[in-house]
Amino acid sequence: MKNSNLNLKNITSKEKRNLVKNVFTEVSKNYDFMNDLMSFGLHRLWKIQFCNFIDFSSKKKILDLAAGSGDLTKIIYENFNNCDVTLIDSNKKMLDEAKKKLSKYKLDFIQSFAENLPFKKSTFDYVICAFGVRNFTDMDKALSESYRTLKSKGKFLCLEFSKPNNMPFKIAFKIYGKIIPKMGKVFANNENAYKYLIESIKSFPDQEKFSNILQKHKFKNIECYDILSGIASIHIGEK
Ligand SMILES: C[S@@+](CC[C@H](N)C(=O)[O-])C[C@H]1O[C@@H](n2cnc3c(N)ncnc32)[C@H](O)[C@@H]1O
Repeated sequence: MKNSNLNLKNITSKEKRNLVKNVFTEVSKNYDFMNDLMSFGLHRLWKIQFCNFIDFSSKKKILDLAAGSGDLTKIIYENFNNCDVTLIDSNKKMLDEAKKKLSKYKLDFIQSFAENLPFKKSTFDYVICAFGVRNFTDMDKALSESYRTLKSKGKFLCLEFSKPNNMPFKIAFKIYGKIIPKMGKVFANNENAYKYLIESIKSFPDQEKFSNILQKHKFKNIECYDILSGIASIHIGEK
């Protein structure tokens, strides 16, 4: 990771794929601890808020895309449970953490890329993705695959860091961007992985642009909800 090219604007697909692989392999053991530390535990509340957009009134088939250590699925099984969730992630070490966390549930854990989903078309009622999209090598391909694997009227839900829309939050976010790599160095002995985190947030499209991207991928009835004045946002698109 030491000499990785962290300038995401000038990086080849192959370099990004390797970078992302190395980042999550290296942070996997500390991933949950660092998430709690860096967000003051807020990411848990955001994820609960996100899962509240899923309609559990009848049994749903859900794909947890870029599932990482399995937080979303855990929230779903602990709070709602009327569903059948499949977890997919490209990183073995992250999925190993998810398997540990969710060992009491009988679930499918699949190591695969979002850009090439190993499912037939129209399989899922929901494809949900928290803090995954900005890491994809080919976001367009991943969105097309999400669309393909959704049933008609199925929904794609995305929780991602976004662009704050007022000055105090903009300033706070800028300061935060400088502190996070230092925290990564002190608490996880990995400054570069957390520099990547900040770079990937900076290079991700803002709320409006991401809504347009979803539209370009044929999603309908697009909704966008800001969290904490746009520090993060939830996008929803329907097939
Ligand atoms: C920031 S973590 C998010 C994990 C989890 N969803 C959460 O909210 O805590 C991003 C995850 O995306 C995965 N990822 C990155 N690129 C991917 C790709 N192309 N296909 C599938 N998963 C990918 C990483 O391995 C990592 O586990």
